[in-house]
Amino acid sequence: GEPHTAAVEESSLGDVINLFDFEAIAQRNLSEKSWAVISGASNDSITREANLSLLRSIMLRPKVLRNVRTARTKTRLFGCDLDLPIYIAPMGGAKHGGPEGELAMARGAASSGIIHCISTPTSFLHEEILEVTPKHAFFQLYVDKERHKSQQAIQNATKTKKIKAIFVTVDLPVVSKREADERIKPEGPAGQKDRKGGGFARQASSFIDSTFSWEDLRWLRSITDLPIVVKGIQCASDAVIAMQMGCDGIVLSNHGGRAADTAPPGILTLLELHKNCPEVLGKMEVLVDGGFRRGSDIVKAICLGASAVGIGRPFMYALHYGAEGIEHAVEIIKDEIETAMRLCGMTDLMRDAHPDYVNTAAID
Ligand code: FNR
Repeated sequence: GEPHTAAVEESSLGDVINLFDFEAIAQRNLSEKSWAVISGASNDSITREANLSLLRSIMLRPKVLRNVRTARTKTRLFGCDLDLPIYIAPMGGAKHGGPEGELAMARGAASSGIIHCISTPTSFLHEEILEVTPKHAFFQLYVDKERHKSQQAIQNATKTKKIKAIFVTVDLPVVSKREADERIKPEGPAGQKDRKGGGFARQASSFIDSTFSWEDLRWLRSITDLPIVVKGIQCASDAVIAMQMGCDGIVLSNHGGRAADTAPPGILTLLELHKNCPEVLGKMEVLVDGGFRRGSDIVKAICLGASAVGIGRPFMYALHYGAEGIEHAVEIIKDEIETAMRLCGMTDLMRDAHPDYVNTAAID
């Protein structure tokens, strides 16, 4: 296997020392179908792999002799106080990761001082997830062909006042070709009906409105006062349009390689923003996701101007241990972030972060 993956035989949480260990345990324990649904990506999975490999080829530029006794990682995002600049990326169907699904994510995020983003196609009702959400969450929207259903979903989710931002996902106007998912028919009657093929993802997402366009963001603005975050920006010029339209934030994301295969990693789009439209970084919250597995990956994104980083699959894999798994995953990430900060000469991540701590020569 990979050099960073311990050979964890009996799956005890104490043996899990990095996020890759959660992945290995999930692969051994999940059904073939659930593993395909979660780990899978589009076509040749080139973007899924590039998300990880590009982060690895960006180097840190440590500064020495700086008294790094302390390491502060706290931040504020859309009015929410967070212990770390990370959030659980919205992921539909979290029961594929473990029976407690989104409920464990909500509980684990809260007890770890981070925040989760509730997706549109959840395994539990939005109400049920919000009920176990003590303080705050974000809400991800796939715009429904029947627009009133989306309006209803937003009204329903926001009436508790716990939702602090709406993430509208725009990188999946049609569901991509997820071949691992497509090859494995679900068990039981659902499998027999599955003659059209396309797998779980295509069936679960056929409600998404592929006509949704920039102008339609005005409709969204008219039905909610919450911050609007456009998730799935993949080039600098679209970031500029989002800014000009008055969006409160964007997520530089390729959907974990599950939308357009060979789309660029979010971190590469972040570098494109630096070059072409640096003003965007001061005008909106710029979030990024895709392939973030190490604390140092997160430090790199924050140094390049991101306000926070979304982490997806590792939290799905951690659901093998329910909310405790989520907590353990966050502890690992926190320790790795603090260590990377101090090794680089930073004591307060959001204050000290600067592109000067990052060397991109290998990818320039
Ligand atoms: C996702 N993602 C996603 N995004 C979204 O906006 N709405 C959704 O319902 C889902 N569902 C979903 C399910 C599963 C199983 C995965 C793995 C991903 C994409 C997700 O929010 C995020 O962009 C990526 O997962 C980030 O990449 P990593 O961290 O998984 O590499």
